[in-house]
Amino acid sequence: MTLYKAKFSSFGSYAPAKVLTNQDLERMVDTTDEWIRTRTGMVERRIAADDEAASDLAYHAAVNAIEASTVKFKEIDLIIVATISGDHAFPSTACILQKRLGLKGMPAFDLAAGCTGFIYAVDVAKQFIETGAVKHALVVGVEVLSRVVNWEDRNTCVLFGDAAGAAVISRAEPGDISHIMGSLMDADGAHGEHLMQAAGGSRLPASQATIDANQHTIYMEGNRIFKHAVRSMYASSDALLKSSNLTGLDIDWVIPHQANTRIIEALANRMKVPMDKVIVNIQKYGNTSSATIPLAIDEAIRANMIRRGDIMLLTSFGAGLTWGSILARY
Ligand code: ACO
Repeated sequence: MTLYKAKFSSFGSYAPAKVLTNQDLERMVDTTDEWIRTRTGMVERRIAADDEAASDLAYHAAVNAIEASTVKFKEIDLIIVATISGDHAFPSTACILQKRLGLKGMPAFDLAAGCTGFIYAVDVAKQFIETGAVKHALVVGVEVLSRVVNWEDRNTCVLFGDAAGAAVISRAEPGDISHIMGSLMDADGAHGEHLMQAAGGSRLPASQATIDANQHTIYMEGNRIFKHAVRSMYASSDALLKSSNLTGLDIDWVIPHQANTRIIEALANRMKVPMDKVIVNIQKYGNTSSATIPLAIDEAIRANMIRRGDIMLLTSFGAGLTWGSILARY
């Protein structure tokens, strides 16, 4: 039952210092700056330092987000970390983050939905807030995909980067204009094998054979995923807008998952939203999976582009396959 509304209180983000450019990649695999730019829109991406793991990136983004809000650290009563490249199989990265933040006495868990992870985590936090179960949730999208990329496979290694983005999601108080207006999550496991990290779990535990066969790295059939991405992000965004009696014309900002500029442009075209209303930072970070959306929103807020009261449409797709959208007045 919905007793309250949820709102985005604040955002934060963190990207590691090390920059890997298209020119660097030209020296590593058979690729060109021109191919990467024209096929993906990417120019450079960030790579975590050897001593940085997912929880380290998550920590910086979380502190950044909490400090940008009026919420005190000890008022956080739920922590969700969306990731497919956490520190360990267990314990969860959320529990490691909780300890690092010096917090206790609230649930903390990871959520795995590939690049849709942040959308899923926001939707889950929203529902905890709407029932009154929690008042302030910390939601983090973080990936260190550089650790699970096959650096000899030009089909995938040019695409991914490392980063974290975070949001504090709070109960909206009476009179607040900020609120999450709607959300939608969807999945189709029938296509899961087109995008996966095959080994390391109970199906294919780590062995010399799985290492030799490169099964601990990302496998992706880019073409299939591309078509699915445009279709699913459009379908969920359209359904969400219709259920809120809105159209693309009512949206101030679309913040899509940053996987490929051509996917983003095709989506904007279908939604009839001009590109100057679409936040794109893929050129600087590549695809950081569950971190792309909060990272893009945080940058746009700090650049004074997204302002309080603006209507934002967040939409993503990813491994699973999963997809979903969030409609919110910031
Ligand atoms: N440099 C040069 N050539 C390359 C490179 C490269 N880095 N990568 C692939 N190619 C070649 C291919 O080998 C192929 O050559 P061929 O025609 O001789 O066989 C040619 O370029 C075309 O390959 P395609 O795969 O058809 O290229 P496409 O235009 O589809 O672009 C891309 C590939 C960028 C991967 C695109 O399909 C894409 O962005 N897909 C979506 C990926 C995505 O969004 N994944 C989502 C989430 S990730 C997650 O959830 C973890």
